[in-house]
Amino acid sequence: MTIPVYVQGAWFLGAALFIFGLKGMSSPASARKGIIIAGYGMLVAIAATFLIPGLQNIALMALALALGGSAAWISGKKVKMTDMPQMVAIYNGMGGGAAAAIAAIEFAKGDAHSLATTVLAVIGALIGAVSFTGSCVAWAKLQGVLKKAHRLPAQNAVNIVLALIAIGLGGAMVVMAPAQPELIFGFFAVALVLGLIVTLPIGGADMPVVISLFNAFTGLAVGFEGYVLGNPALIIAGIVVGAAGTLLTQLTQLMAKAMNRPISNILFTPMVASGPGEAISGSMKELSALDAAAMMRYASKVIIVPGYGMAVAHAQHKVWEMTSILEEAGVEVKFAIHPVAGRMPGHMNVLLAEAGVPYDKIFDLEEINGEFGQADVALIIGANDVVNPSARTDKTSPIYGMPILNADMAQNVIVIKRGKGTGYSGVENALFYTDNCRMLYGDAQPMAGEIIQHLKAMG
Ligand code: TAP
Repeated sequence: MTIPVYVQGAWFLGAALFIFGLKGMSSPASARKGIIIAGYGMLVAIAATFLIPGLQNIALMALALALGGSAAWISGKKVKMTDMPQMVAIYNGMGGGAAAAIAAIEFAKGDAHSLATTVLAVIGALIGAVSFTGSCVAWAKLQGVLKKAHRLPAQNAVNIVLALIAIGLGGAMVVMAPAQPELIFGFFAVALVLGLIVTLPIGGADMPVVISLFNAFTGLAVGFEGYVLGNPALIIAGIVVGAAGTLLTQLTQLMAKAMNRPISNILFTPMVASGPGEAISGSMKELSALDAAAMMRYASKVIIVPGYGMAVAHAQHKVWEMTSILEEAGVEVKFAIHPVAGRMPGHMNVLLAEAGVPYDKIFDLEEINGEFGQADVALIIGANDVVNPSARTDKTSPIYGMPILNADMAQNVIVIKRGKGTGYSGVENALFYTDNCRMLYGDAQPMAGEIIQHLKAMG
């Protein structure tokens, strides 16, 4: 099918808009605009496709667009900020699945392709199929549908054998092109199962790392299939996603570093302690919301450490209200963000930005760690592992070596959490037992609300 020059031009425009959109997404301040620009790019690329002369199945295409578009519109409108990781997972899976489906149709048509095109189609199909089922598992885990990590007895060996079978079948498809339907079916079945088997044993909280990797893979798969179809918009979209995926992969490495766990360890080894752990002395001491409010109201410097618990409690708006009251009273307030606080990269930054916290009050671990010593109060809201000092000293701990926020070095530490629950790693936190630490038990949102009431009453 020859593509008219005006359609090619429109695709090129769409691709250019993707690139401008991606540029916008590089900063939180322009991210919203970037997403809208990229959205227009997609609209232009899709609309232009309908202008190709002699196009068949227009009604089916329109139906698919209506179904997919309305599902995305409704879910996009309804999704909560805390559910974003699973949204990203499922969208990513759709991209991988679409790339694999394009390849499947090309194989089924049995048209003659050059060797290079067939090789790219097979690689794209393999990556796309693995990303599809893997991302579906990631979604199910993050959504809480799949609660347990399922490990096979010789998990890593099974992964390797399945990957080798998939590569072997893919190789056969290239050599025997056009491949028989049984071979095509077998190849896709093994690739889809591989995505499931690789992802099922990985714990829910490690999913962000997995999603970042799948995202990078999906970009590649889409780019390859764009080449197979001779569609420049798809190639460029794939390159853009691949480039974003590369950034995410770097981020993945940063995440892995921030957890002191190699990526291979996250993907192939369950997170467990290697010994009984250091003995913790002391006891947890409670304080009231009134005491917490007074401690912060009369402090000169307060550093707030938000964590996963703040996200699930949706407490960010109250936390910002509390911060504003403290600042009006002359207290210097800063936010300390650990690179893996929460459950996805940038989780805390996005939540705080959504609540209106200015970027110049939000500091990374390296920037703020030296300041805890001068802080009168470190207020920890629903964070645990990222402030656990045993990460510095306890070699048997699963989080040993993970850089932590030095909240324990503040004059006073206040921890808001619901009870004595551990964090994601499942280990006890020695900080909670230290002399300068007080626990304020309760859900982060009502607790922040109570502190606000007391602060207001103090004038
Ligand atoms: P966690 O260590 O998971 O601790 C969260 C704490 O919040 C829990 O101890 C829990 O205690 C408390 N909590 C839960 N719901 C709450 C609520 N409604 N109100 C108040 N408190 C609540 O969180 P963190 O410190 O943010 O650390 C993140 C962990 O996730 C790290 O271990 C990290 O390695 C892992 N992880 C993160 C990422 C990324 S990219 N962010 C990726 C993979 C893994 P209670 O049950 O007692 O309330």
